[in-house]
Amino acid sequence: MVELKFYVTTPIYYVNDKPHIGHAYCTIAADVLARWHRLKGDDVFFLTGTDEHGEKVEQAANSVKKTPKEFVDSIVGKYKEVWKELNISYDCFIRTSDPVHENVVSQIIEKIAKKGDIYKGFYEGWYCVPDETFWTDLQLRNGKCPECGREVKKVKEESYFFKLSKYQDRLLDFYKSNPDFLSPKFRSKEILNRVKEGLKDISITRTTIKWAVPFPLDKNHTLYVWIDALFNYISALGWPNGDNFKRFWPADVHLVGKEINWFHSVIWPALLFSSGIEPPRKVFATGWLTVDGKKIGKSLGNAIDPAALSRKYSIDALRYFLLKELPLGDDGDFSEKALVTRLNNELAAELGNLLNRTIILAERFDGRIEGKAELDKAINLQKIGTLMDKIDPFNALSVIFSFIKAANKYVNDKEPWKLNGRELGNVLYNLLESLRIVSILISPFMPGTSEKINLQLGVKAGSLKDCVFGKHEYKVKKGEYLFKKLDASSLDGAVG
Ligand code: MSP
Repeated sequence: MVELKFYVTTPIYYVNDKPHIGHAYCTIAADVLARWHRLKGDDVFFLTGTDEHGEKVEQAANSVKKTPKEFVDSIVGKYKEVWKELNISYDCFIRTSDPVHENVVSQIIEKIAKKGDIYKGFYEGWYCVPDETFWTDLQLRNGKCPECGREVKKVKEESYFFKLSKYQDRLLDFYKSNPDFLSPKFRSKEILNRVKEGLKDISITRTTIKWAVPFPLDKNHTLYVWIDALFNYISALGWPNGDNFKRFWPADVHLVGKEINWFHSVIWPALLFSSGIEPPRKVFATGWLTVDGKKIGKSLGNAIDPAALSRKYSIDALRYFLLKELPLGDDGDFSEKALVTRLNNELAAELGNLLNRTIILAERFDGRIEGKAELDKAINLQKIGTLMDKIDPFNALSVIFSFIKAANKYVNDKEPWKLNGRELGNVLYNLLESLRIVSILISPFMPGTSEKINLQLGVKAGSLKDCVFGKHEYKVKKGEYLFKKLDASSLDGAVG
């Protein structure tokens, strides 16, 4: 069998503050994809990290009277702690202030310059520091950043430009011959239309920012943080000669928030075309978690700490909720009440209950647990696989949970508490096999819960190829409830 590779990335997060639930959302989604591919037997590389340069971080460091380096060093640990707490199985954590990364960026800029794609000019326009984004007069909305609504500042300085305009046709051809590159489909139109309207060259250096990668062609300039940041996806692999680069590039999917889709779907492939490096296979733009329709974020004062939530409700309830509450590409409101409702009605009442009632019956039974597969038709493995390949964990979870529901219905229909002997053995066989398979299928989403189920069934962790009914030895042992029901009535729907 040919072993496939799968390279998935999250955006690298600005280290101006500790992570919030919006960051956790994207990282958990990437973790689910990475774990799913490991389950398939693919060779996986999962990259996350921190975006440490730029004006925003420089300002945050100044405000607490630290040097930028001291400041970023103090924040990075918080990201790593939270990812550990949320069971994020990354293979590599990149920091853009790492000299290896800075060196890669310098080498590539020289390559792009040699290609004739960089020229000196003068930039006059607006800059949104929190988003680290340049805007023109026409793009502003009521004089503010069109993306986040915050104040912008006037920038008027000498700058080097990248000839993005040169790549318009090549990008359009690329999108045409790689129809899955821009994902999800409903977001691709916006990018296509903007590229068709024409591309302007982009400013790639600043003269006023010190905390940045030095611009290799002119010591009075430093590199614009976004250009530095994008190259993390290849510097982490050891471009140009590293084994990981040879093995894993091009990326199979860059998961990015919708507001940074342009950087990834347009600027990034153009920079790669210019550098003679293959573009990624897919950029998938996720939606936003909102509270009362507003994006969750520190500056809006509605940031939610994912670690606190996971301690309150369990890591897996949070992971499940984030992927089951909204399709990955859509925006969706976050509320604790909705989380508790899913925890009660889906995790406790469906999954937990199925395990609990099965284990109680199996512990009491002293005959042979063997039988004929009856519940196997209720699993639609192929559909789950297709949905996961399409980066649709939301619907894949629905299919997995319809299998769990079918198993609960089977219990109700068979009334095993009225059975004994071979008949009971047959029902138990079907339930235990279903649970063993459920445990494999949910493991990318809820790895801790999957381990708990395996422990109660007395089986080892399986992979996707083990998701078929067969003969298995069970050493069942009742454990704690997987999820305890909570009272949602005191929660008002907002974040407590
Ligand atoms: N540093 C850049 C990314 C560079 S990638 C080469 C950046 N950082 S960020 O920290 O501001 O945002 C990182 C990611 O978190 C983005 O994809 C963004 O969409 C995501 N989220 C931040 N708040 C979010 C929500 N409220 N909901 C969902 N995702 C959100 O941009």
